[in-house]
Amino acid sequence: MCGIIGVIGVDDALPLLLEGLGRLEYRGYDSAGVVLVTGGTLWRTRAAEGTHSVNDLRVLGEDAPPRCSSGVGHTRWATHGEPTTVNAHPHLDCTGRLALVHNGIIENHADLAIGLVATGHVLASETDSEVLVHLVEAEMARGSTLVEGLRLALRRVRGSFAVAAVHADEPELVVAARRVSPLIIGLGDDASFLASDIPALLGSTRRLFALEDDQLAELRPGSVRVTTLDGAEAKATPLSIDWDVTASRQGGYDDFMTKEIHEQPDAVAATLFGRRRADGMLTLDEAAGLSEDDLRAVDRVCIVACGSSYHAALVAKYAIEEWARLPTEVDIASEFRYRRPILDHRTLTIGVSQSGETVDTLQGLREARALGAKVLVVSNVVDSSMAREADGVLYTRAGPEIGVAATKTHLTQIVALELLALVLAQARGTLSASEIGAVTDQMLGLPDHLDKVLLRTKDVAEVAQELAEARDFFYLGRHVGHPVALEGALKLKEISYLRAEGYPAGELKHGPIALIEPGTVVVGVATRNCLWEKLCSNIQEVKSRGATIVLVGNDGDDQTAALADHVLWVPAVEPMLSPVVDAVPLQFLAYWLAQAHGHDVDRPRNLAKTVTVE
Ligand code: G6P
Repeated sequence: MCGIIGVIGVDDALPLLLEGLGRLEYRGYDSAGVVLVTGGTLWRTRAAEGTHSVNDLRVLGEDAPPRCSSGVGHTRWATHGEPTTVNAHPHLDCTGRLALVHNGIIENHADLAIGLVATGHVLASETDSEVLVHLVEAEMARGSTLVEGLRLALRRVRGSFAVAAVHADEPELVVAARRVSPLIIGLGDDASFLASDIPALLGSTRRLFALEDDQLAELRPGSVRVTTLDGAEAKATPLSIDWDVTASRQGGYDDFMTKEIHEQPDAVAATLFGRRRADGMLTLDEAAGLSEDDLRAVDRVCIVACGSSYHAALVAKYAIEEWARLPTEVDIASEFRYRRPILDHRTLTIGVSQSGETVDTLQGLREARALGAKVLVVSNVVDSSMAREADGVLYTRAGPEIGVAATKTHLTQIVALELLALVLAQARGTLSASEIGAVTDQMLGLPDHLDKVLLRTKDVAEVAQELAEARDFFYLGRHVGHPVALEGALKLKEISYLRAEGYPAGELKHGPIALIEPGTVVVGVATRNCLWEKLCSNIQEVKSRGATIVLVGNDGDDQTAALADHVLWVPAVEPMLSPVVDAVPLQFLAYWLAQAHGHDVDRPRNLAKTVTVE
């Protein structure tokens, strides 16, 4: 991951670089740095303290030379080498006149480093990235220009990269290239920009283009030339922009996570908007690229995702199998393409990714397409890499999500996937029109239920206060409650750093129950689905071994309450839709426990929102 940014042809590059880096911090915030091109030299500053490096950079930037018109910046999520200043980007070559930022992994960096050191280069950092700047330096020492030097250097590397480089001798140029890791180019009247993603550039221009794999861009004031890494002329892909820069600001909320949790009713409503036609039939928009014939031809569904998106996919498996009667597999993306999946043109392969950039999912979908499968992406980012490469896209309409822990994007993924399940059922005739209508009515009522749950955050805060000393948590669920439990445990791990394991409740007795002892907290998803009674038996099993029991229960359900030390109440909805509602008190629980432990919920340690390394 990591975020990169570059500008040229502006009055004052530093504030733009810092603002862009601020918006890129969700990709990593272990350290950050900028280089400015100034009067025939480079000025560099880097910071690597805690998780607020871009803020530190703002202070360091007060010493910068005034009004430089170009520069590059970087915010890092450490892969190779600790998050120290010396490992922070931009990296300089041995002359100090060439600077480079990189996102991705150079897989053959160790071999390249041996060759570089043998020819006299001094590598200052432990990063894989630094070899790139020395490779370009070596090419330039042999007479190449910066552009040619980068092109030749990139021919020698294996792995993934989005890179940007500047040279003190070529102040009118920023050069960039990509393979796998994303890179966006922006054009202003007299300026040009680059960044890892769209929001970083929204404050500067709305004329944006995506650089494709193995393309190189030469940015000059007000113009960009795109070629392939082989030197052929090429074109970057124009992007449609539907986000407003204000949507990625914190508003009046204490943090982005709270803001985004409270945006969930609107996000769900937006994702469902316009999906039911006047004649009652459900429809996906054209971008999904699935005709009635396509939908009927599907004989199997394969879903590929990571993290919270994977949990949304697990919910979808229940819905697609139950409603559309299609066999559905769900794969963790990082495993998918290495298990030699068996797919053909009748397999609908769905990538679920809020960012549309997660490299494991992206590569999994490439594999699926290569095997002839039809690929649909469920993404929150218009024209993301996955969206551009897929046969079709089903957009969640959650708006930008900045908090690292997914909240509103997760809920909208479930809704979008369940909508797809109903559309498949409609095309295949596995549910009647009235059955589909009844579920759709319930779906459209979800935002109102979510509004009610949001009013209960303080109740959850009180429960969290009681649990503040606990260190071990098990999250249990059955049927669609199982993915809710997995997601609840993930939220807790991510932002409160507490040990939390999500488990299918019925499986606990096959091992993990040995870990239950007084003081262990068991959080059960105990809303009424078809396995509620069995779930209650599983809760009894841990209760009798001394666990503290917290249950998500339906309003007024005394039988559930009787089992629990604490109840997190939610309205009852159609069981297949219950994950949308049941997830919310678990978001709050993680949030309030993180607060109780004094952690920054928007920037949890070691994490990044968009993961563009394997
Ligand atoms: C990271 C984020 C998670 C997210 C996962 C998948 O790990 O921290 O919140 O669920 O990536 O991201 P994607 O963009 O593919 O949904």
